[in-house]
Amino acid sequence: MNAAIRAAVRTALYHGLEIYGIRRGYQGMIEGDIFPMETTSVSNIIQRGGTILKTARSKDFMTKEGREKAFQQLKKHAIDGLVLIGGDGTFKGANIFFQEHSLPAVGIPGTIDNDIAGTDYTLGFDTAVNTAVEAIDKIRDTAEAHDRMFIVEVMGRDAGYIALNSGIACGAEDILVPEQISDFKAILERISNDARRKKLVNIIVVAEGDDFGGAEAVRQKIVEKFPHIDVRATILGHIQRGGSPSYFDRVQASRMGYAAVNALIEGQSQVMIGLESQELIYTPFDQAIKQHAPLDMQMLEMAKILSS
Ligand code: F6P
Repeated sequence: MNAAIRAAVRTALYHGLEIYGIRRGYQGMIEGDIFPMETTSVSNIIQRGGTILKTARSKDFMTKEGREKAFQQLKKHAIDGLVLIGGDGTFKGANIFFQEHSLPAVGIPGTIDNDIAGTDYTLGFDTAVNTAVEAIDKIRDTAEAHDRMFIVEVMGRDAGYIALNSGIACGAEDILVPEQISDFKAILERISNDARRKKLVNIIVVAEGDDFGGAEAVRQKIVEKFPHIDVRATILGHIQRGGSPSYFDRVQASRMGYAAVNALIEGQSQVMIGLESQELIYTPFDQAIKQHAPLDMQMLEMAKILSS
């Protein structure tokens, strides 16, 4: 997100525009946490995780009064266009705001879950998957040394992108995602076959939103059936949401921040910038929020074959 903020600020200044930062999203907008940004405001941030502008969920912005307050705050600074980084909630809010106050907004998809329609890729996803991969590789060392099975839980409340991609990259034996009802019978059968041929090292990657209820629930189920196998559960948690972003995240964030300001200058409004086949595309907020980006089930099938 910092790379996108940097790009938006520098592009706006290049065009001779004034640009303001709004801290804590819509909530900060309502509270007037708005400050002018200069070129040095975004120095030395491209390599930093998180966001210098902070983030917050805003219940107040869901009310008409809250949005009216936000508009009055923006008016004080003569702000006439918004660049937003976020997901469904952010873009929905921007659409209602536009209906009420005609303030144009351009969005940048920012979530590690990679589940926004209208883009192959959302900011932070690549870094999060790389973090998960690094962690799972490290866990595999213990799995190998001790002949243990590990159930590794990655983030993804509603989406299995991190699980699918980190699972494939780490050669996981099973990958459990929220998009598919897990066939536990098949998993137990596979473990049983593996045990027969003395394959003791197993990594199962499970998304936190899987129907089984995460790593600990999966572990218990396996132990019930195979009490002799040493099964451990590890929850990677919020390490996936931080840290220095990958080169890919930084480059795409730079492209999107740059494109967002140019889009506003060209008069575009209520669109989200996305990346499709390496090209930047513009999808109306309405479409981007209508559905989640579907997971590629063939990749899940492939992962099974490759780890058999
Ligand atoms: O929305 C992205 C996400 O990373 C989900 O995968 C995860 O469930 C959630 O955020 C965690 O958010 P919080 O830290 O607010 O619980």
